[in-house]
Amino acid sequence: MKKQIITLVAVASIAAGYTMAYAAAGSNGGGIVGSKHDMNVFLTTNGGVKDTDTRTCAYCHTPHHAAAPGQTVDVTLVGLNGNPDTTVTYEAYTPLWSRTLQNGGYAQYVSASFNPTVDGKFYDPMAGPSRLCMSCHDGNIAVDSYYGKTGTVTQLGDDQMNYFGSNHFAIGLNSGLGNDHPVGFVYNDMQSDAKYELKASTETFAGGTKTIDSAMTQVDGVGKIMSCASCHDVHNGPAVLNKNPASGRGYFLLASQTDSALCLSCHDKNK
Ligand code: HEC
Ligand code: HEC
Ligand code: HEC
Ligand code: HEC
Repeated sequence: MKKQIITLVAVASIAAGYTMAYAAAGSNGGGIVGSKHDMNVFLTTNGGVKDTDTRTCAYCHTPHHAAAPGQTVDVTLVGLNGNPDTTVTYEAYTPLWSRTLQNGGYAQYVSASFNPTVDGKFYDPMAGPSRLCMSCHDGNIAVDSYYGKTGTVTQLGDDQMNYFGSNHFAIGLNSGLGNDHPVGFVYNDMQSDAKYELKASTETFAGGTKTIDSAMTQVDGVGKIMSCASCHDVHNGPAVLNKNPASGRGYFLLASQTDSALCLSCHDKNK
């Protein structure tokens, strides 16, 4: 019994020491080690199997034996005015990816005022980096499933704002991506249509020097598409400008939440 107590104390102090050594980089810039995207920190709090060598990158990337390079995806473009439908084939973006890849099949966001498909435009929410995010944020693939290992911790997160109840870190869990800000279309396809009141892609995110264009991902044969990474910097790097949020959450955002500077970086509602 005594031995057990000693063991528990020892584990607790190691965990506390670890947290202190990797002081709270959170998600408001300052790099990936120790941040909300350092799975060693996340798994310390939430259980699951941590990386033996405490690697940070390994949960997402591998130097060797990467997942599904060159996997291709077909997207149908609806032919307008009686023209036949056409198919574009693009290569999934998998930068030395160490995780199971998402094939998609999520509901996609459409509304009366936004529906690229019926306009004959490219629309696939999984194009570009979004597919990579969903290999954790779909709420099904465990965070500690990487390098061919099968883990157990589907991420739930610890968002203290708790906006819409539990499990909301799993972006794709309930309505797929049908209730999320749209991703997977060409920004300039929308921007060139005045009705959308969007800023030119040469403009920068509010308060910074990063252009909107540089937050889009090139998909060959399609163009530069908007993705999850058009608002979030997965590596928590210097592009994160939501520095001192009142909530304490930076959310890896490319502009501040104050006065919705992020939203107004792209949406010009004064037009
Ligand atoms: C939580 C998952 C995750 C972790 C951990 C991670 N990355 Fe990434 N990485 C991504 C995603 C997603 C992309 C694609 C992002 C994009 O296009 O903006 C990416 C892209 C990259 C790229 C290519 C394009 C670019 O943005 O530069 C490099 C290089 C890279 N990561 C290196 C690293 C290194 C080195 C580490 C560890 C220090 C690391 N990553 C940790 C998810 C991760
Ligand atoms: C390896 C799994 C993994 C991948 C891949 C991944 N994430 Fe995460 N992400 C997590 C986990 C786990 C958390 C919750 C961390 C916590 O609550 O401590 C999180 C948290 C977040 C948060 C909230 C941060 C905060 O301030 O609380 C955002 C935003 C986010 N991720 C966006 C993304 C985007 C965008 C991508 C792709 C470009 C991505 N993630 C890829 C695992 C991942
Ligand atoms: C148009 C910008 C934008 C895009 C695109 C976007 N997000 Fe977010 N995301 C946000 C903002 C802003 C927040 C902070 C919460 C808020 O303000 O409601 C957030 C919060 C989050 C969180 C924290 C949990 C939550 O629900 O609040 C996660 C995880 C996340 N995003 C992942 C993703 C993933 C995965 C994608 C792609 C499928 C994505 N985001 C696309 C703007 C965006
Ligand atoms: C990186 C650029 C970018 C950022 C940042 C961004 N958006 Fe968007 N958003 C777009 C684009 C492009 C579209 C698709 C065209 C359109 O409907 O304006 C869109 C679509 C939308 C739509 C759907 C409109 C419809 O007709 O159904 C809403 C609402 C919206 N955004 C609100 C927001 C809010 C709120 C924020 C901040 C949390 C935000 N956006 C941040 C680029 C952005």
